[in-house]
Amino acid sequence: MEIFHISAECYPMAKVGGLADVVGALPKYQKKAGHEVRVVVPCYDTKFKKENEFECVHWGDVKLGNFNFPFSVLKEKTDKLGFELYLIEIKELFDRPNVYSYQDDVERFVAFQIATLDWIIGRETIPDIINCHDHHTGLIPFMIKYSYKYAKIEKVRTAITIHNGLYQGQFGFDKLYYIPEFDLKHIGFLDWSNAINPLAVAVKCAHAVTTVSPSYLDEINVFANGLEMLFNSVRDKSKGILNGIDIEVWNPAKDKMIAETFSIKTFEKGKQKNKEKLCEIFELDPTKPLFSFIGRLFDEKGGDLLPQASALALSENFQEINILILGSGNPIIEEQLAALKNDYKGNYNAFIGYNEELSHLIYAGSDFILMPSRVEPCGLNQMYSLRYGTIPIVRRTGGLKDTIIDFGDNGNGICHNQASVGDIVYSINRAVGLYKNKESFNKIRKLGMGIDHSWERVCQEYIEIYNLIIQKNEG
Ligand code: ADP
Ligand code: GLC
Repeated sequence: MEIFHISAECYPMAKVGGLADVVGALPKYQKKAGHEVRVVVPCYDTKFKKENEFECVHWGDVKLGNFNFPFSVLKEKTDKLGFELYLIEIKELFDRPNVYSYQDDVERFVAFQIATLDWIIGRETIPDIINCHDHHTGLIPFMIKYSYKYAKIEKVRTAITIHNGLYQGQFGFDKLYYIPEFDLKHIGFLDWSNAINPLAVAVKCAHAVTTVSPSYLDEINVFANGLEMLFNSVRDKSKGILNGIDIEVWNPAKDKMIAETFSIKTFEKGKQKNKEKLCEIFELDPTKPLFSFIGRLFDEKGGDLLPQASALALSENFQEINILILGSGNPIIEEQLAALKNDYKGNYNAFIGYNEELSHLIYAGSDFILMPSRVEPCGLNQMYSLRYGTIPIVRRTGGLKDTIIDFGDNGNGICHNQASVGDIVYSINRAVGLYKNKESFNKIRKLGMGIDHSWERVCQEYIEIYNLIIQKNEG
């Protein structure tokens, strides 16, 4: 089967969060399973782009009304990622360091989607499946079905994978003319609350809808920033598929980014060495349990709760615990977390920013990872933590609920129900108790390390969905 994944992020070309990890891994495992898999992302000015070689396989022009944007399609030359990676180079719109948050994001991602389809219709073969990811690629299922220009591929089956339903990419109908011409009787597919809502468009027009965990599928029927009813109405073409992880990139036995590699047999010694390294870098106490947080500092992740919860936990357990934060996001939260460094020197530290290498060392060297998310469609941190013998402390929501069971119920982590300061501190106190009981502590760490969350198993679930929508088409 020929599969295209179209996305705004793909590790290691461009990463902001878990979307990149998924789009950098799922295709690799689909390829290993015998499919022809291609990934298409915009050509940002990233380190990966600068350090790798590409060949131009196609070029053209995208027109958004009177604006004309020349584009090229660049293919990564070596296929070393385990799939074919294509970059849509539109210099004026994407030759910038960041992935998102520019004033012209609407123009950027509409142009990206049009350029991608212009290239695909010119190719010799027509793909079986186009798997879109999140709202940045949400107009594709509509354009394939209804834009006259793409009639040649109107039979292509499309799936939309929802990594985060809170972000929908809405823009006004004043920009309708950006979308290649179609019969206006289909205009309703574009509309949600009097705006063009790319996520809603994809949910309406794609042949299949997937979410990144089963629980998240249930949750978006109740809470999805205004799209609840829509999600309800497409239940029969929806499926929640729990993300996997790339066990080659995230492998404590071979990880070059950590201080000492370790396996399930040597984890106690290996983790201690990594913890010592972390404690040396961040001036923490390696004899005390280390609680870490890695992530985007937003309310969605419970980031707003971290400053107060950290301060409270550190005062209650004065000098008995360490807390380490790696993250960036809301400047107010960043400032509050940075300010705590002075108050709890020796037991608290924060690295405000993004650092892939450091994240590996933190997964390896921490005892517990904090994930007090309000919303977590899947969450990869808890799965990386398990694999690195670090016990997740999670709020029961979305994918966290689907992967972590409280140790009180013979599970692999610590769970709380509310995204609240009180619940976080209560869980930290439970964790301190667990840490003191070395036998139970090690048993849970070992249990986590033995869990298989690899894509090898999971990627088949996507193939089943693809097969289903292809068969429906033929039937
Ligand atoms: P989300 O995609 O919502 O941010 P996920 O748990 O799915 O959450 O994935 C987050 C990914 O981003 C993980 O690979 C995590 O290690 C990484 N990450 C998040 N923040 C940082 C950071 N500040 N530095 C390094 N890696 C980070
Ligand atoms: C989104 C979600 C996160 C999920 C990731 C990968 O960023 O917020 O929960 O793990 O996508 O699917």
